[in-house]
Amino acid sequence: MALYGVLGDIHGNREALIAALARLDAYGPEQLLCIGDIIGYNADSDECAAILRERGVVSIAGNHDLIGIGLLGVERCSNKAMHALKRTRRSLLPGTVEYLRSLPRSLPVEDRAVLVHGGVRDVQLYMTGLHHIAENVAYLRADLPGRKICFYGHVHQQRVFEIGHGGDIRELPANGIVKLDPDHEYFVNPGSLDASRKPQPKFAEFALFDSGLLTIEFLRVPYDDALTEAKAVMAGYRIGLWRDRYYSLRRKLRGRS
Ligand SMILES: [Fe+2]
Ligand SMILES: [Fe+2]
Repeated sequence: MALYGVLGDIHGNREALIAALARLDAYGPEQLLCIGDIIGYNADSDECAAILRERGVVSIAGNHDLIGIGLLGVERCSNKAMHALKRTRRSLLPGTVEYLRSLPRSLPVEDRAVLVHGGVRDVQLYMTGLHHIAENVAYLRADLPGRKICFYGHVHQQRVFEIGHGGDIRELPANGIVKLDPDHEYFVNPGSLDASRKPQPKFAEFALFDSGLLTIEFLRVPYDDALTEAKAVMAGYRIGLWRDRYYSLRRKLRGRS
């Protein structure tokens, strides 16, 4: 039984990562867990990977991590993501590539929790609706029996779903401290550290998981978004209007052929 800091969807945002770690340090968690998407979108992918390694954060791979090292294609990416990932691929240090290559797709935590990035079977699935949760509860029971708390990311929103005995699913408010019932199953999204594509004011989102008390505390802190954005623009991570249109046209033409 331990206190865990759970974070993810960092996307090369060093300022958000530093701010979140400073807040988490105040709680003194025994272990930090990362649900993937360490890289992409922003300018500090290598730096974020280095910080995670220095801090002994246990991480899984997200779709951006896999795309960034060529293990997954860009077909399911938005134009913004594809542009930033192409830029990221050109700058990743060999040590970062090696680190990302070593990350598992899912990771058990103690005897009842597990980390995945998108869905249980699909790293690029956006689990936004109740039907996604229903489908993935079945996959969780089949693929990872005994795992009742599934932490996931990818949708960049703090959310928590509870699955009751009868299979009924209800979404609980992802605010403050949420007490988990040991007999129920849960899908928990701690949110995203990176808020670069969200409206102002920007917050880095993450959570604390107490496996003894069975509680999740949803947390968020402000960070220096202006610095993140300036670095991303300067280094060519933001897509321009014409390139965006060009990518859209190219997709359309490929779809016809
Ligand atoms: Fe992400
Ligand atoms: Fe993702």
